[in-house]
Amino acid sequence: MQRLANKRILLGVTGSIAAYKAGEIIRRLRDAGADVRVVMTRGGAEFVTPMTFQALSGHPVHMHLLDTESEAGMGHIELARWADAICVAPASADFVSRLVHGRADDLLSAVCLASKVPLAIAPAMNGAMWANPATQANIRTLSSRGVVMLGPDEGEQACGETGTGRLQALQPLLEGLASLFERHILSGKTVVVTAGPTREAIDPVRYLSNHSSGKMGFSVATAAAEAGAHVILVAGPVSLPSPDRCERIDVISAQQMHDAVLAHVAQADIFIAAAAVADYRPVVNAADKIKKSRQTLTLELEPTTDILAEVSARYPRLFTVGFAAETRELEKHALEKLQHKRLDMIAANWVGPAAEETAGTFGSDTNALKLFWPGGQAELTVTSKWKLARQLIEHVAQCYDTRHHHIDRTDAKVVMMPDVGRTPSR
Ligand SMILES: Cc1cc2nc3c(=O)[nH]c(=O)nc-3n(C[C@H](O)[C@H](O)[C@H](O)COP(=O)(O)O)c2cc1C
Repeated sequence: MQRLANKRILLGVTGSIAAYKAGEIIRRLRDAGADVRVVMTRGGAEFVTPMTFQALSGHPVHMHLLDTESEAGMGHIELARWADAICVAPASADFVSRLVHGRADDLLSAVCLASKVPLAIAPAMNGAMWANPATQANIRTLSSRGVVMLGPDEGEQACGETGTGRLQALQPLLEGLASLFERHILSGKTVVVTAGPTREAIDPVRYLSNHSSGKMGFSVATAAAEAGAHVILVAGPVSLPSPDRCERIDVISAQQMHDAVLAHVAQADIFIAAAAVADYRPVVNAADKIKKSRQTLTLELEPTTDILAEVSARYPRLFTVGFAAETRELEKHALEKLQHKRLDMIAANWVGPAAEETAGTFGSDTNALKLFWPGGQAELTVTSKWKLARQLIEHVAQCYDTRHHHIDRTDAKVVMMPDVGRTPSR
């Protein structure tokens, strides 16, 4: 399940007989590419040893709140900040009650209280405990606060009774967890995303390319799909698995990327050009392998088509987003590109030695972005490419709505420069 790839899931395990099933949850989450950290309650540790979950998650298990060593390591606030989502599975009746009351006298309760990320709980208990009006009232309260309920299921229970209260089955539980990351801000929209490098053939065995890994573009495609869009991902040669629910078109060269994009953007609402498309290609693609017989070899290069500029010019109603990877004068170059290509937004980031400060870019899992759009800007600080992509999509959805509100009245694409106190040189 690609939708859970790269997500940081904090799994809470409480004192239910179903605690042993948490091991399988951890395994499946890791198989799906998620990073999992486990927090156990004291009750949870009575049923399964922390050692089991440490081995399965690949991280130490967190248990103690009022403990100097634990706090000096990854304390409760740090754990709360680390997570992209929290899932408590199984959630005992007692833990549910603590959550309702905003208790913070054990580590898991404190982390839940200190966290702003989506929270899902999978209650698991005896049928009578589940049916008890106190539990039912607690569940209603938590649901009304936005806590996502995963189950419980009906069936035979550990206590020998049959009824409602079993831990939700693994597959629907994982589906529910994946849906925590879904928002509907781009529902009904079609988004074309380009990602990765292109390769420009020199001869049958050699090519010109760049260091783009495609991770940022794939993260953007994932975030757009999570936002409810129909996503067409035009991918250069990368070794990344296809994001869930994206239509993927693999291409090699800039020309192929151009053709694939042009074949799909007419039906799209948003075009996000995250690929590092080659600016030049060899004039001649030699039919045979060039022999190593000369002292020097001169390649004549010609410019490739600027996909983004062409799309923006041909489809003025399409919302176009470009990326600018710069080694110098990031803001200046980004603003020039925004204006010259008449884009709706540009996401700029440092590459090369300057990028070391931002701990990211080509190949890495983290990055930082500066967004500029006509009339505004935003700084997205260093974080995982997946989180950045999600923030970018939020800005795109917001600007798209604003622009369409405006366009519906004027039917024109207005290009104003962001108010950054500096006019870019041309
Ligand atoms: C054998 C046994 C099985 C239990 N199973 C459950 C259970 O499935 N669900 C539940 O809510 N409580 C169950 N309990 C009760 C909880 O373990 C108890 O309420 C505990 O305080 C929960 O601790 P915690 O919420 O800190 O994890 C069980 C208790 C025992 C002794």
